[in-house]
Amino acid sequence: MSENSASFKARLKNNAAEVEACLVGILSDWTQPDEIARPAPLLAAMRHGVLNGGKRLRPFLVMESAALLGGDPQVALRIGAALECVHSYSLVHDDLPAMDDDDLRRGQPTVHIAHGEANAILAGDSLLTLAFDIIAAPETNLSDRQKTELVLALARASGIGGMAGGQALDLAAESSAPDEAAIVTLQAMKTGALIRFACEAGAIIAGSRSEERKLMRIYGEKIGLAFQLADDLLDLTADAATMGKATGKDAARGKGTLVSLRGKDWTEIQLARLVQEAAALLEPFGDRADILNETARFVADRSH
Ligand code: IPE
Ligand code: IPE
Ligand code: MG
Ligand code: MG
Ligand code: MG
Repeated sequence: MSENSASFKARLKNNAAEVEACLVGILSDWTQPDEIARPAPLLAAMRHGVLNGGKRLRPFLVMESAALLGGDPQVALRIGAALECVHSYSLVHDDLPAMDDDDLRRGQPTVHIAHGEANAILAGDSLLTLAFDIIAAPETNLSDRQKTELVLALARASGIGGMAGGQALDLAAESSAPDEAAIVTLQAMKTGALIRFACEAGAIIAGSRSEERKLMRIYGEKIGLAFQLADDLLDLTADAATMGKATGKDAARGKGTLVSLRGKDWTEIQLARLVQEAAALLEPFGDRADILNETARFVADRSH
């Protein structure tokens, strides 16, 4: 492992510990003003879905893009935690029998296996709502305008035109043999939209100019695409113990992936190209963008 990559991994880990601590506080037993009660079985299912050792890549992207552009780190941590709630909800629902029907996630039984389907559905609902609560709450030290921009951007990235819409296309594609353009669209929606939001959120938090915000969006789109390509490749090449989730399932379910359509070698070339394109975008920032460059490499070369 190169020195850069070792220090990158240490930084990702430290960041993940901060996100974990923030989420533990938010998912406490204590009700917030205007909440009436926090039912224990639902809270347990939410905690299971969130506090279980994810890579926390999306919060990392929020925090590092905010850091690059001069945003407040504490605010970036909270927005990263909000995004992790949406991402974790998407995984809880993705694993349900009606969707990918998976029993293992992040090395543990999935939420519906451990807490029942009804609690898994409600935990997902509550995590999605909680994300918007975290952004709007008084503890998030941003202007009302910045909060509204974040709410709008996260809503668009999560809903019918983003992650949830992409999941619908992903399921439909199990029986329709999509072409390359259709797969690119579905992946940009189901996975890319939240990753793009992560990078754009850094610019919103920092109050950046529109050119910088646009640049971060495009960087996010590139690594979002790379992230799902790597996930699909790992589904083919890695084992469940390394991934903490079942592998070999995409082919079995007939999922529309670029790996199945174009093969492993093509995918590896695409990944290298996306890393280069991300680096070219970040050139104006010079070495200040080293971490985001390293992140693009991590996304493409990751082993889990
Ligand atoms: C898995 O995301 C789902 C996809 C979008 C491919 P991650 O690989 O980021 O999962 P965690 O959060 O680290 O478990
Ligand atoms: C999941 O894609 C994307 C979302 C959860 C939005 P996958 O179905 O490929 O993710 P894994 O492989 O189960 O983590
Ligand atoms: Mg899926
Ligand atoms: Mg899945
Ligand atoms: Mg997958």
